[in-house]
Amino acid sequence: MTFSPPSSVPLSVLEVDTMHPLVALLCLLPLYPGSAAVSPSCPQNVNISGGTFTLSHGWAPGSILTYSCPLGHYPSPAMRLCKKNGQWETPQATRLKPTKPACKKVRCPAPVTFENGMYTPRLGSHPVGGNLSFHCEDGFSLRGSPVRQCRPNGMWDGETAVCDNGAGHCPNPGISVGAVRTGSRFGLGDKVSYRCSSNLVLTGSAERECQSNGVWSGTEPICRQPYSYDFPEDVAPALGTSFSHLLGVTNPTQKKDENLGRKIQIQRSGHLNLYLLLDASQSVAKDFHIFKDSAYLMVDRLFSFEINVSVAIITFASRPKVIISVLQGKSQDETEVLYSLENVDYKDHENGTGTNIYEALNAVFLMMNNQMDRLGMTTAAWREIRHAIILLTDGKSNMGGSPKLAVDNIKEILNIHQNREDYLDIYAIGVGKIDVDWKELNDLGSKKDGERHAFILQDADALHQVFEHMLDVSKLTDTICGVGNMSANASDQERAPWHVTIKPKSKATCRGSLISDQWVLTAAHCFNSADNQSLWRVNVGDPNSQRGKEFQIEKAVISQEFNARAKKNQGILEFYGDDIALLKLTQKVKMSTHARPICLPCTVEANLALRRPPGSSCRNHESELLNQLSIPAHFVALDGSRLNINLKTGTERANCIKAVSQDQTSFPGLTDVTEVVTDQFLCSGTQNDDNPCQGESGGAVFLERRFRFFQVGLISWGLYNPCESSPNSRKRAPANRIPPPRDFHINLFRLQPWLRKNLEGVLNFLPL
Ligand SMILES: *[C@@H]1O[C@H](CO)[C@@H](O)[C@H](O)[C@H]1NC(C)=O
Ligand SMILES: *[C@@H]1O[C@H](CO)[C@@H](O)[C@H](O)[C@H]1NC(C)=O
Ligand SMILES: *[C@@H]1O[C@H](CO)[C@@H](O)[C@H](O)[C@H]1NC(C)=O
Ligand SMILES: *[C@@H]1O[C@H](CO)[C@@H](O)[C@H](O)[C@H]1NC(C)=O
Ligand SMILES: *[C@@H]1O[C@H](CO)[C@@H](O)[C@H](O)[C@H]1NC(C)=O
Ligand SMILES: *[C@@H]1O[C@H](CO)[C@@H](O)[C@H](O)[C@H]1NC(C)=O
Ligand SMILES: *[C@@H]1O[C@H](CO)[C@@H](O)[C@H](O)[C@H]1NC(C)=O
Repeated sequence: MTFSPPSSVPLSVLEVDTMHPLVALLCLLPLYPGSAAVSPSCPQNVNISGGTFTLSHGWAPGSILTYSCPLGHYPSPAMRLCKKNGQWETPQATRLKPTKPACKKVRCPAPVTFENGMYTPRLGSHPVGGNLSFHCEDGFSLRGSPVRQCRPNGMWDGETAVCDNGAGHCPNPGISVGAVRTGSRFGLGDKVSYRCSSNLVLTGSAERECQSNGVWSGTEPICRQPYSYDFPEDVAPALGTSFSHLLGVTNPTQKKDENLGRKIQIQRSGHLNLYLLLDASQSVAKDFHIFKDSAYLMVDRLFSFEINVSVAIITFASRPKVIISVLQGKSQDETEVLYSLENVDYKDHENGTGTNIYEALNAVFLMMNNQMDRLGMTTAAWREIRHAIILLTDGKSNMGGSPKLAVDNIKEILNIHQNREDYLDIYAIGVGKIDVDWKELNDLGSKKDGERHAFILQDADALHQVFEHMLDVSKLTDTICGVGNMSANASDQERAPWHVTIKPKSKATCRGSLISDQWVLTAAHCFNSADNQSLWRVNVGDPNSQRGKEFQIEKAVISQEFNARAKKNQGILEFYGDDIALLKLTQKVKMSTHARPICLPCTVEANLALRRPPGSSCRNHESELLNQLSIPAHFVALDGSRLNINLKTGTERANCIKAVSQDQTSFPGLTDVTEVVTDQFLCSGTQNDDNPCQGESGGAVFLERRFRFFQVGLISWGLYNPCESSPNSRKRAPANRIPPPRDFHINLFRLQPWLRKNLEGVLNFLPL
């Protein structure tokens, strides 16, 4: 919510008609807590039939009453303001007789016209859940959705149906539901313009031109009910796909995935300036807190990508406050950015609570200007920076002039024209239903074919949901490593898409991990050289089948050093040193939500994922990943679930491995445990650790850092099999069991020479 300061231009009642009604009201009725000696309170007969309401400041003057209705309904009026004289004012109806508040049924608009075809049914407007079907005349084919359903936010699902005969230089741009188009020639340079019927609001581009590349300029115009809003599940993918590509997570040499629909591609050497503009003009502290949390989520996730990014943070109300500028070195440091964000306070703006979007954007412009001066206008360093502005607001501009002017300045300094559109993205996100409007957000947001940059969400919690999900990149087809779906609702395979099952016999005996799109890492002891290799299979996750997809083996590289009987003469009946193997699949695995490699430390790929500087070494990775005496890690169980262990290092490791001497059956008369548990092994299984079962051997032991996953070990052997009695039920070891449960995993940092020798050309290794 916004309140204009007393200094803003006083408005006479006569001018009210030309203003946004609420802004006018607020200008007339600024809130001065305590300024009136006795303030009457507003009457409490404000119930809305079928809905609920909230009050910003109780029944006192200045308080804002907001109505809410169940899904599929909208409140009319949406809000009321308690005036100084103790009367409720309903902004949208200043001139009308007050009506009883009611929850009205949401309806979707009807098409005004439909070219070269027919639609049914014909109604003035459509109820939620109703369908519209489209058919084309002979000679025209239908693009878009043949059937569309009216959603509870007053928007049709699917895409605009268009009957096109492909005759133009550009495709027929269609006429979205509720719109009227002028212009019906689709040749190079032809223009079409749109308006919306009745009281619908146009979002997108009101005018589009057919460009030389056969694409219409701008973005499709959509006619919205003024009360319509976006659902988080629609915004997250729209914003997220746009952003994932902006983050350059796709390989620059790879063909674009059209489904992801995004153009901006930062090459891995590229640089992104992200400007986060947070509206602090609202009177509700809770919402600002959620803005902050959402920005925090986004920044944290952003820094897990493999590009150089600088984050600027600007909070604003009547004036902007630059918290971090892209000119500061700390704008490239995640910790510094997050620290600054945590300390942002909406109270910084307590003395000027107007909404000045112009000044906020102008602060971005000034920052750009300074950076251009510093780098030099004609240098590649300046010209190759991509800029993304994210504006989060819960209010309409009510001071400072048109924000559009600031956008124009920004476009000019970045030299944005048809070939440089990719260098600027402005996302305008409105939160709340009261004081944000589609027209202003639409004017601010970038307009690109097939993309959306302006959104309205119902509340701050919806915003939080969007930011939580928008940078989930597990849908990408690139081989980017160590990305799993973090959602609690994701399937086991989506959470650990590198996990594979290995069947060197008729049934599964081991597990493994994808470390590239064609190579699997597993344990050597899974294979008996007598097995017929042409029968081996690897089962990899597949989004189209619960059972996954089977791959054959082109080549198996089993460590020559592995020999379970090597130390039999020393009383070590089984020995698992060098328990490592690599399998090359006959085909490449198609990357998906269900199949994707894990990051292997000491590789360039893992270095990018850890966001370490280019000169890092394998030793740096080891000290970053195995940096404590007890390191929380995970493995995947037979049933696919993720279980937890703690890897021990240093003195804790020494304690952990001691238990081996108590296993008199496997190691009769053992004096030196390090003969069995050599340096090659990581140790877990103490305290409340889960223990791997037989059959889980070869699987990855992995850690999470910065939303990415890194394999530090592979499951080799242990002193206790929790699935001994049944593979379907794990049993914890009794507390007094002798020997106590312990598990040993091949430490990948210790088998670097072998990995390097056998994965040459597959992964890019860092210096040791
Ligand atoms: C409004 O509704 C509440 C509960 O729904 C009820 O307790 C209250 O009496 C109602 N007030 C009026 C003025 O109708
Ligand atoms: C609209 O179509 C959907 C899916 O085809 C169907 O489930 C729904 O019942 C239809 N609605 C109406 C009102 O016919
Ligand atoms: C980051 O920038 C530095 C120089 O500023 C460059 O050497 C490096 O390659 C960049 N890294 C990425 C991942 O773009
Ligand atoms: C707001 O104004 C008051 C009184 O002039 C002053 O004490 C306070 O520090 C100001 N707050 C900020 C954030 O500038
Ligand atoms: C998970 O699913 C439940 C129930 O289907 C839902 O309430 C919850 O919001 C979902 N959580 C996420 C993170 O998607
Ligand atoms: C992650 O999993 C959740 C729950 O299944 C799903 O809704 C979401 O779309 C997934 N995200 C991606 C990017 O696959
Ligand atoms: C391995 O199995 C294949 C297919 O059953 C068979 O053609 C081949 O002769 C077998 N090779 C050996 C060495 O047994």
